[in-house]
Amino acid sequence: MGLIQRKSWELLLSIFALVLFGSSVNGEDPYKFFTWNITYGIIYPLGVPQQGILINGQFPGPPIDSVTNDNIIINVYNNLPEPFLLSWNGIQQRRNSWQDGMPETNCPIPPGRNYTYKFQMKDQIGSYYYFPSMYLHKAAGGFGGIKIVSRPLIPVPFPPPAGDYTVLIGDWYKTNHSILRQTLDSGSILGVPDGVLINGRAPNATSFTVDQGKTYRFRISNVGLASSLNFRIQGHKMKLVEVEGSHTVQNTYDSLDIHLGQSYSVLVTADQPPQDYYMVASTRFSTPILTGISFLRYSNSQKSASGPLPPAPTGIDWSLNQARSIRWNLTASGPRPNPQGSYHYGMINTSRTIILANSAPVINGKQRYAVNSVSYIPSDTPLKLADNLKITGVFVVGSMPDKPTNGGGYLQTAVMGADFRAFVEIVFQNNEDTVQSWHLDGYSFFVLGMDGGQWTQASIKEYNLFDTVSRCTTQVYPQSWTAIRVPLDNVGMWNLRSENWARQYLGQQFYLRVYSPVGSFRDEYSIPNNALKCGRVG
Ligand SMILES: *[C@@H]1O[C@H](CO)[C@@H](O)[C@H](O)[C@H]1NC(C)=O
Ligand SMILES: *[C@@H]1O[C@H](CO)[C@@H](O)[C@H](O)[C@H]1NC(C)=O
Ligand SMILES: *[C@@H]1O[C@H](CO)[C@@H](O)[C@H](O)[C@H]1NC(C)=O
Ligand SMILES: *[C@@H]1O[C@H](CO)[C@@H](O)[C@H](O)[C@H]1NC(C)=O
Ligand SMILES: *[C@@H]1O[C@H](CO)[C@@H](O)[C@H](O)[C@H]1NC(C)=O
Ligand SMILES: *[C@@H]1O[C@H](CO)[C@@H](O)[C@H](O)[C@H]1NC(C)=O
Repeated sequence: MGLIQRKSWELLLSIFALVLFGSSVNGEDPYKFFTWNITYGIIYPLGVPQQGILINGQFPGPPIDSVTNDNIIINVYNNLPEPFLLSWNGIQQRRNSWQDGMPETNCPIPPGRNYTYKFQMKDQIGSYYYFPSMYLHKAAGGFGGIKIVSRPLIPVPFPPPAGDYTVLIGDWYKTNHSILRQTLDSGSILGVPDGVLINGRAPNATSFTVDQGKTYRFRISNVGLASSLNFRIQGHKMKLVEVEGSHTVQNTYDSLDIHLGQSYSVLVTADQPPQDYYMVASTRFSTPILTGISFLRYSNSQKSASGPLPPAPTGIDWSLNQARSIRWNLTASGPRPNPQGSYHYGMINTSRTIILANSAPVINGKQRYAVNSVSYIPSDTPLKLADNLKITGVFVVGSMPDKPTNGGGYLQTAVMGADFRAFVEIVFQNNEDTVQSWHLDGYSFFVLGMDGGQWTQASIKEYNLFDTVSRCTTQVYPQSWTAIRVPLDNVGMWNLRSENWARQYLGQQFYLRVYSPVGSFRDEYSIPNNALKCGRVG
């Protein structure tokens, strides 16, 4: 059968499956099953014992290795003494915000209970990670890597690497997450982290083994709470190949700035004399500089790592220029065989421009963080459930303004309404002196441009309307703006958040309700039959 015919067959079959089951998984595609036991356990990431969150006894948690369109079934048993939820950074959950695992899409899993997530890696490739989404649990662990590789026969724009390593980098506090939470709840800030971990380990406690002459893929995600990081490997170049599901133009870098929540894939060739080399992740734009160290170890290594650590770049401009150098490979395939560049995002007119300005207001005597003056407070019932079951009085669509308001900060369960299939532009305006990092669930967006100062209509002439990458997390430099465009082709209730975890916890987030009046299974799956109940439901 030709591709088009095959596609329409697949479509017919999936519509058939939907009509029959209203199901959130596709019976045509392979299944992968996971059973995860969430417990507390003692970990020593910086030498002192801490109560960490383990998944099947592991910190970080086990990887999810998948192929485009795989159905993923994860039965999560919560054996913590408090409620728990996992979310999937970058997994689009098409038609399925039911499985997003954010506090406003799902009821938390009560202590001693389980919940089975069911979702599909629909039309996605790339490198992502999962994390616990409530109570600052992320400060105690519970995160792990997610890989989605291309289906067989879909061309990948580089030869298969000899190995594929997940590298989770992130800052870390020695203080346990309950104390950190109390600090934030009382209106104080967290202060400087205590170190930087690589795959949950202290400096010098991990290594990645390579065979001389071979090329390896490293998938690096910043899973930390507060710090932008610079990543580099002594004596080795990194060829950038993928950013959050986009195959990139394969530029070579000595080091990469990876902001909170971001993921990058690089190829590294073991082309140096056989010894160990430092692999470094160090904090950017902050003092003191904290450094995580691991090793790239040649299997025939003759010598331990030596010499000074490879130097970090300095300054914002270096980082901004690097960000601008990251481009989409227009001729490479993404998750589908057709080239990425066949989607001409720059030719589509936008129907709406949303401007989001971050701020750090004091509200009722406490430090909060806000966007367009609104500091998010959780509802008593997940928004997605309230919306579906038509429970009124939980939230108001339109309670999140489209433009900065110059008034003082206020608390609100903020929901912005948007039309299914609208093509919108979002400008993040950062008038503060720290780097911001923003993530949108349910989508991948085009990063059109970023620059210093205030965004104005004239900034549009700086946009890359041709070959920027499509990704799910973007940085905004201090006193700068970043503009994105996003096709709202995924119905649901989607979290838009700061990836700085204290800011997110203290209100710098809101939900985007992408709505279709049609109410068809083709646009959104029905509520899962195992959905947990909480708040005003049940
Ligand atoms: C989870 O781990 C705890 C502690 O090791 C154990 O008591 C419990 O039986 C495990 N639960 C499951 C479902 O494996
Ligand atoms: C956090 O630390 C405090 C004080 O040391 C302790 O009382 C509490 O049990 C710890 N909580 C967790 C969840 O680790
Ligand atoms: C809990 O696990 C059981 C056994 O696998 C499963 O049948 C049940 O659906 C799960 N509960 C939820 C709420 O997903
Ligand atoms: C882009 O992808 C094509 C197709 O796979 C590949 O041949 C080419 O080398 C890539 N170009 C760059 C600049 O990375
Ligand atoms: C890591 O190892 C290097 C030398 O191999 C050493 O200079 C450094 O002090 C070590 N750091 C820690 C925290 O052990
Ligand atoms: C986009 O807008 C421009 C100017 O308003 C108009 O000329 C053009 O036809 C529109 N393009 C599409 C594809 O609608």
